[in-house]
Amino acid sequence: MKVRVQRGESVQEFEVPRQPSQTVLDVVTYIQRYLDPTLAYRFACRVGMCGSCAMTVNGVPRWTCRTHVDRVGDQLEIGPLRNLPVIRDLVVDMREFFDKWARAKGEFRGARTKADDFAKVEPQSAQRVLVDKGIECIGCGVCYAACDVVKWNPDYLGPAALNRAWTLVNDVRDERNPERLRAVAGDAGCHACHSHVSCTERCPKHLSPTAAIAGLKRAVAKAVLQGDL
Ligand code: SF4
Ligand code: SF4
Ligand code: FES
Repeated sequence: MKVRVQRGESVQEFEVPRQPSQTVLDVVTYIQRYLDPTLAYRFACRVGMCGSCAMTVNGVPRWTCRTHVDRVGDQLEIGPLRNLPVIRDLVVDMREFFDKWARAKGEFRGARTKADDFAKVEPQSAQRVLVDKGIECIGCGVCYAACDVVKWNPDYLGPAALNRAWTLVNDVRDERNPERLRAVAGDAGCHACHSHVSCTERCPKHLSPTAAIAGLKRAVAKAVLQGDL
């Protein structure tokens, strides 16, 4: 098959043998191993766990280790993820993406110590159900690359960081909520989302950052009405 790979300002074309059950990551790996060892790309687990292999495939952001060539056609155009600075070839700099998780107060902070009993959270409770809906994020950046608001407003926290914030807003063990809601309420936070849904359409883990962001908007509005923000 013909494969066009974006490398900085230029595009390089390769011929790669077609194999059964071949993934896009297999194609890139073949190129790097047999055709051009200088091609830079990133992967770790190859089984959809680590989130490091995301690229743009035929114009669409995807996790490449779980994307079969059969599904995207055997004329491939592969490039780096959009909305992030390119380090080289197919490798983007994820620092800004994860810095935004920190800006959205995306780390858990509980009050219990290891001397305390563990928290008991009923699996069927409404809040736990909301946490479970968002917790499987693998930090791949696909949603971030799919989001036009990130492109227009580079300060926007983006779907993944906001989805993470929403899981923590609903985590009854976490102690950081007023601070977190303030962090996501600003101009570059949840209210900047135009609900285009591209993040949700593209998320390989079938999460819905759009629903998480809508939840944050409601939580911020409620906190303002209650005088907590
Ligand atoms: S729903 Fe919001 S976060 Fe998701 S792609 Fe659209 S604007 Fe971006
Ligand atoms: S929300 Fe989905 S697309 Fe976005 S980083 Fe997490 S797993 Fe990837
Ligand atoms: S290589 Fe880990 S998710 Fe693709």
